[in-house]
Amino acid sequence: MDIKITKTTSPKEKPDQKALGFGKYMSDHMFLMDYTEGIGWHDARIVPYGPIPMDPGAVALHYAQETFEGLKAYRTAEGKIQLFRPEMNARRMINSNHRLCMPPFPEDMFIEAVKAIVTVDADWVPSEPGASLYIRPFMFTTECQLSLHNSREFLFAIICSPSGAYYAEGINPVKILVEDEYVRAVKGGTGFAKCGGNYAGAMIGQEKAEAMGYSQVLWLDGQERKYVEEVGGMNIMFKINGEIWTAPCEGTVLPGVTRDSMLTILKEWGYTVREEKLSIDDLMAYCEKGQVEEVFGTGTAAVISPVGVLNYRGNVQTINNNEIGELSLKLYTYLTDLQWGRIPDTHGWIVPVC
Ligand code: COI
Repeated sequence: MDIKITKTTSPKEKPDQKALGFGKYMSDHMFLMDYTEGIGWHDARIVPYGPIPMDPGAVALHYAQETFEGLKAYRTAEGKIQLFRPEMNARRMINSNHRLCMPPFPEDMFIEAVKAIVTVDADWVPSEPGASLYIRPFMFTTECQLSLHNSREFLFAIICSPSGAYYAEGINPVKILVEDEYVRAVKGGTGFAKCGGNYAGAMIGQEKAEAMGYSQVLWLDGQERKYVEEVGGMNIMFKINGEIWTAPCEGTVLPGVTRDSMLTILKEWGYTVREEKLSIDDLMAYCEKGQVEEVFGTGTAAVISPVGVLNYRGNVQTINNNEIGELSLKLYTYLTDLQWGRIPDTHGWIVPVC
């Protein structure tokens, strides 16, 4: 891919690495590439970060034809920069795009584009422990058209944000509200796709949860509101009587990269992993009997995030005394050691950048 690079003449001041929060600051540059039907992908470029001109009639603004991804660049103790399984993000974006009638952005080009923008903004990859450069590839249609037809023009973009922990709690347990009024996904819908519309539809649950003092929502299945699926910004796993339960990826759950990685590790560590439907009633009954040993979320932004409190219709259950569980901590340590290059990569998951 021929990428034209135009560097900024006014680099921004870097934020304090100890107080980054998540997704608040943007690096100096962004990657852009256009798609035109009949021509394909063209004009790959890295330009100074800034507004993208949009036609007010662009389909993305009206009918949400948009997809996105999330991955991170990590700085090792030796000062090298590396990615974690970027090919998984590339493949998931292809699947999301297929569902949203958007053209695929090829895997090799995706990885090349990510490496290119991270290399240009290498000095934005934090060195502070626990901080990384969050990379947000996204794609949307730029075509002006108010009738409901598929589009022929798209933009693929990547922006980067030096970030710390997603939750203010850090690795400390978060409180989760089980949502039983609104639903996030149904079979045949877009639940498995990473598209803005899924998150827009979920905001109302998030708002409700936050108003009640909870960090995020645990979504139940959209058909029966019976089975646990995923949390707002992460997949969720339950350690019950020594076994690990998580919702199967059958069209309504986001196939998380961290989810997949942790299931692989858990199996290697000898755990029985049950990618099966788990009803909220059974889960609460297990909680009441003290059989839920740990609950934790998995996600690129969330990493491994222990859950200390679950509230379902006012039945408030405290998990593991609201403390970080042994397994959650072991997974967190393993994953972050791997991502920051502190232990050998025995799975071929690490991709060096520079
Ligand atoms: C990610 O973990 O990368 C996500 O996209 C979740 C988002 C809600 C921050």
